[in-house]
Amino acid sequence: MASHILISALILLCFFGTCYGKGLFSSLQRTLVANASTKQGEVLKSGLDKITVTWTLNQSFPASTADAYKQVKVKLCFAPISQKDRAWRKTKDDLTKDKTCQFTIADTPYDASTVQEWLVERDVPTATYFVRVYALDSSGHEMAYGQTTDAKKTTNLFEIQGISGRHVSLDIAAGCFSAFSVVSLFGFFYVEKKKAKRAQ
Ligand SMILES: *[C@@H]1O[C@H](CO)[C@@H](O)[C@H](O)[C@H]1NC(C)=O
Ligand SMILES: *[C@@H]1O[C@H](CO)[C@@H](O)[C@H](O)[C@H]1NC(C)=O
Repeated sequence: MASHILISALILLCFFGTCYGKGLFSSLQRTLVANASTKQGEVLKSGLDKITVTWTLNQSFPASTADAYKQVKVKLCFAPISQKDRAWRKTKDDLTKDKTCQFTIADTPYDASTVQEWLVERDVPTATYFVRVYALDSSGHEMAYGQTTDAKKTTNLFEIQGISGRHVSLDIAAGCFSAFSVVSLFGFFYVEKKKAKRAQ
């Protein structure tokens, strides 16, 4: 009886833990070659500009490598410079906890199109980014990846300028203008009141 429980526990542990789809970024092979339309240092505007992403299997790997790839997830990811001091964007090796890639560009079957065009969504904040492509198995676990930057994530990065960043100066101008209006309105009443007093 006790041994049954022990074995069941071991199987469960094995299932959820070490044996079953580790889910660690460091365990993934970089078998995909990803390419984005963005240029190093380019600045894109969220809500306006588009990114086109393409990917293929790296020809150094046999075509059979991709046999188990069923799905592809294309993600927009924060570059290290935009993760500094921001725990909510932190890179974790455990992919279920990793916060590097928070925006989904595409989620398609592996055999479908290998070109995806994406309008940078309006909620993408101002930051420096790169694009990563994950290949998933039939149960949705990451098996391999490719990305538009090097392993250290320092090359070929691009910037996105968020909506809020663009409208700040306009908001300040509008704020100043309304403050000015209120002041001049009071000033106007004050002058009128004085005039009225003098007239009496
Ligand atoms: C990536 O795309 C650019 C322009 O679309 C092209 O010039 C370049 O050769 C591509 N690189 C790869 C590795 O596909
Ligand atoms: C393809 O993979 C090989 C071996 O890992 C690597 O040396 C090469 O740089 C990769 N090619 C591209 C275009 O990423």
